[in-house]
Amino acid sequence: METTIYYFSGTGNSLKIAKDLADKFEDSELKPIAKIWDLENLESKSEKIGFIFPLYWSGLPKIVYEFIKKIDLSKSNYFFGVVTSTGDINEQPLQQLDRILKTKSKRLSAGFYINMPNNYIIGVDIHSEEKQKEFFEKAIKQVEKISKIIKNKEENLTQEILQKDVKRSEGVNKDFLERVYESDKEFYADDKCTSCGICENVCPVNNIVLVEGKPHWQHKCQQCLACINFCPEKSIQFGKETLKTQRYHHPEITVQEIINQKK
Ligand SMILES: Cc1cc2nc3c(=O)[nH]c(=O)nc-3n(C[C@H](O)[C@H](O)[C@H](O)COP(=O)(O)O)c2cc1C
Repeated sequence: METTIYYFSGTGNSLKIAKDLADKFEDSELKPIAKIWDLENLESKSEKIGFIFPLYWSGLPKIVYEFIKKIDLSKSNYFFGVVTSTGDINEQPLQQLDRILKTKSKRLSAGFYINMPNNYIIGVDIHSEEKQKEFFEKAIKQVEKISKIIKNKEENLTQEILQKDVKRSEGVNKDFLERVYESDKEFYADDKCTSCGICENVCPVNNIVLVEGKPHWQHKCQQCLACINFCPEKSIQFGKETLKTQRYHHPEITVQEIINQKK
């Protein structure tokens, strides 16, 4: 295989980008991180390796961080990252990727950001349909450009990007990585819950179990917000902060595709 794209996605934005990008290459495969991240002896043999994931608190999701640290990448020589976010970004996720790769005597060759609709609905509402459409149209063009850069194995990371002072964001993401597993303590299902089990199935790390038909969170949360955003009854809440916010998932990504990304 020439290109392997590893992805993680809570609500479909990163999966949509990963699928669209993989379609541009003749010899590529898409691999879900959630399905393999806790396996031993992970190894990749492709020449080019991509990581596509959402930005979480100015940096990498914990699952992505742990996965890249673990996998043997010695046979590959071109690495790229594509970060989806709502646009509140800085150089930190690319620096994080580069730092992990350097511990394996590799380095990040290229990095990209794609703005997508907001899925962080804890106290912040989703984008309007019009704005979402705008993001999707721009993303199509960006994916086209990114695919050309990757096909030619171009490099786009300057020392300015890799050495920029990102201390503040570093602190924010470090705190997040330390507390994320327990961050599910404020989730609950209200009376609208029909015990359909979608939350349990859609959770990429099997952090939800139904007890007497109601979801219980097991404190190994990644905060991807798939459970709350995919609940068809809008029954799942996070404290009081989601009582008034709407729910979001990428309109072209199905619940089943999110379920399929895990074991
Ligand atoms: C826990 C969490 C933290 C987030 N932090 C940021 C952030 O720091 N900056 C930003 O622009 N977007 C942030 N977002 C928004 C997501 O990065 C964005 O909506 C992403 O495209 C979602 O991708 P997905 O649908 O593949 O899960 C955050 C979302 C979540 C769930």
